[in-house]
Amino acid sequence: MAGVQFADVRKSFGAFPVIKGVDIDIADGEFVILVGPSGCGKSTLLRMLAGLENISGGEIKIGGRVVNTLPPKDRDIAMVFQNYALYPHMTVEQNMGFSLMLNKAPKAEAEKRVKYAAGILGLDKLLDRYPRQLSGGQRQRVAMGRAIVRDPEVFLFDEPLSNLDAKLRVAMRAEIKELHQRLKTTTVYVTHDQIEAMTMADKIVVMHDGVVEQIGTPLDLYDKPANLFVGGFIGSPAMNMIKGRLDPENPTRFKAPDGTALPVSNPPAGAIGRDLVYGLRPEYILLDANGLPGEIVVIEPTGYETHLILKLGGSDLSCVFRERVSAGPGETLRVAIDAAHVHLFDAESGRRLTD
Ligand SMILES: Nc1ncnc2c1ncn2[C@@H]1O[C@H](COP(=O)(O)OP(=O)(O)O)[C@@H](O)[C@H]1O
Ligand SMILES: [Mg+2]
Repeated sequence: MAGVQFADVRKSFGAFPVIKGVDIDIADGEFVILVGPSGCGKSTLLRMLAGLENISGGEIKIGGRVVNTLPPKDRDIAMVFQNYALYPHMTVEQNMGFSLMLNKAPKAEAEKRVKYAAGILGLDKLLDRYPRQLSGGQRQRVAMGRAIVRDPEVFLFDEPLSNLDAKLRVAMRAEIKELHQRLKTTTVYVTHDQIEAMTMADKIVVMHDGVVEQIGTPLDLYDKPANLFVGGFIGSPAMNMIKGRLDPENPTRFKAPDGTALPVSNPPAGAIGRDLVYGLRPEYILLDANGLPGEIVVIEPTGYETHLILKLGGSDLSCVFRERVSAGPGETLRVAIDAAHVHLFDAESGRRLTD
């Protein structure tokens, strides 16, 4: 097993920079997810780690060794892609053993490894099938099996679940996580889906436009987003964001442009007199008979919880209640804000000001 380090890594396609100096330190055995909107450079970064793309600047290390110019086959990595590209004319067993055959592994050893991987992935009974005889989830498992048999230092995944339907995606998420808990192989996993990142990762790297916005555990990012981008990207329904300023007379009141006053429990030093953004997650708006009146715009019962959009002053706020709500659109609900969970950001830089 091996850790992975990116130090000031850069990549340009022609004159166009797409990775603009990325530093990431991945410990041996860690499950790290690179997440960010489409086009932010996730696949490019992963492909540089795999050796499929040249590095324009900086250094990438695997197991302490600089791999910048090392060919892919010498990096001891195995990659699983979105389009798992199984060989249609080969059985599951042959697909999984193919790379071992190419590397001229002894037959008995290859069989042992394929059996082991098939056992872990629940493919034992499907070894003689062809890819067309498998479901999407089974094909995805074969693609993972191909990676497992190689027993690499590092697993790389690029959006491996994107082609699966929603239900299967949830099931495979748990399978991949369990697989990592068993094998404990260092894993770098790319996705644009923040829920996938939150549910699976030991550590998340949020990327945006070729730079790293924040690195942390899923709950670090959720509870203390470093800036507006991370605050808005992580969490679903998304964080509410309201522009305004602290009341200089009483900085525990945040004044929206329409005059609505919202509570702040710990006004950060230096926040008075600046343009701010008030960040409020939907679950920290609570039903409260003595609270502020809001008008229901949309109500969405999910069974488990109630999602709704509430017009409070001039702002449409997204709310999530554990309770069921019987009122309908146009009616009034009274709500209170849990001020201890409010985030304040500097409107200009986007930087988090609350600690
Ligand atoms: N071979 C290439 N030539 C030119 N531009 C590329 C190439 N590959 C990717 N890009 C550009 O680099 C940026 C990052 O792409 P990519 O790493 O695929 O993003 P992501 O995986 O986060 O969606 C995009 O703007 C994309 O258009
Ligand atoms: Mg990609």
